[in-house]
Amino acid sequence: MPLAFVDLDLFDQNIHAILKRAGNLPIRVASKSVRCLPLLKRILQADSRFQGIMAYHPLEAVKLSQAGLDDILLGYPCFAEQHIQAVLEEVKRGKKIIFMVDEEPHVQQINRMAQQFEVQAKVCMDVDMSTEFPGLHFGVWRSPLRTVNNVMNLANQIKKYPNVELYGIMGYEAQIAGLGDRVKGAGLKNTAITWLKKRSVKDLSKRRGDIVKALRDAGFELQLVNAGGTGSIETSKQEPWITEITVGSGFYSPALFDYYSQFKHAPAAVFALEITRIPASGIYTCQGGGYIASGETGLLKQPVPYLPMGLQPISTEGFGEVQTPIRYSGKESLQIGDPLFFRHAKAGELLERFNTIYLIKNGKIIEEISTYRGLGWCFG
Ligand SMILES: Cc1ncc(COP(=O)(O)O)c(C=O)c1O
Repeated sequence: MPLAFVDLDLFDQNIHAILKRAGNLPIRVASKSVRCLPLLKRILQADSRFQGIMAYHPLEAVKLSQAGLDDILLGYPCFAEQHIQAVLEEVKRGKKIIFMVDEEPHVQQINRMAQQFEVQAKVCMDVDMSTEFPGLHFGVWRSPLRTVNNVMNLANQIKKYPNVELYGIMGYEAQIAGLGDRVKGAGLKNTAITWLKKRSVKDLSKRRGDIVKALRDAGFELQLVNAGGTGSIETSKQEPWITEITVGSGFYSPALFDYYSQFKHAPAAVFALEITRIPASGIYTCQGGGYIASGETGLLKQPVPYLPMGLQPISTEGFGEVQTPIRYSGKESLQIGDPLFFRHAKAGELLERFNTIYLIKNGKIIEEISTYRGLGWCFG
């Protein structure tokens, strides 16, 4: 300890629940929320509707391609020459890796490298799916492509670049997919979020539909219209023009995904900390534990106690870099050397803390496998 494990019975249960939620749509697996090659392969092999990967870094896409995976969509734009070149080397070998773009400089740079490599590069446009309410930008800040006009302009610019072809569009509705509407203790904020989400879905699905129609009417043959994430499957799949949904976090189902009204997946990824000190009766100090999730800071980003029942972090200390004190009021008799179990707030970030994880089946450890980090895969 510290150690992390994935309960394969629960992981497989989540795989099947996600397939069911997505209806008949193909699912692209968000690798950033898995960060473990054998588990990515397990998902892809579980059903033919799992088609392709959404990678989060070009060098990651290259590693995955070299490990035998194909049909990799880069979820985010990249610009560094070495990164684009590394991807194009794989493309030149016949692999399908699609770049993400949202402005002409991205396209220009990819085209320049693709000319040098004498290959045709596929690109996907990232369309912003945020909704503007008076005084509130409900969504994220990523792509400047918001309107039909913005998208058509870039699509027409792409046509000018001989070594680049427009392959599809992606519209990630982060404010629906990544924002819980049943957050513990959030009270009226949940009601407000439910209201905002409902209106935002109406706005963004119309916009996404208008954009797809405008592109198709103008003769662009979109091979891919990607939407969503774990938290938006039910709404994304309502749009008939969507060709695939991206899902990642739902496979491990970390703590932040406990707070959605539409679904509940099983907690498949867990970590254990060893009790190394007992500073006072009922307080157990563990080694390690400071695995705080990224994004807007706040209490929801710290790990969540799992087992035994009755664990409570101490608010003045939280989860520490090397030590974490925990109050315990349950029935077990805890000793130095015993484990306490927790869940991370987010999915993939937990695996950045461990070189290997254990796989559990029927309550027993069956294997120890490398994470990205254990393979030396670190993409910043
Ligand atoms: C572009 C994009 N699509 C989809 C997702 C959904 O991933 P997840 O299912 O892990 O929430 C993400 C996650 O951040 C994303 O950035």
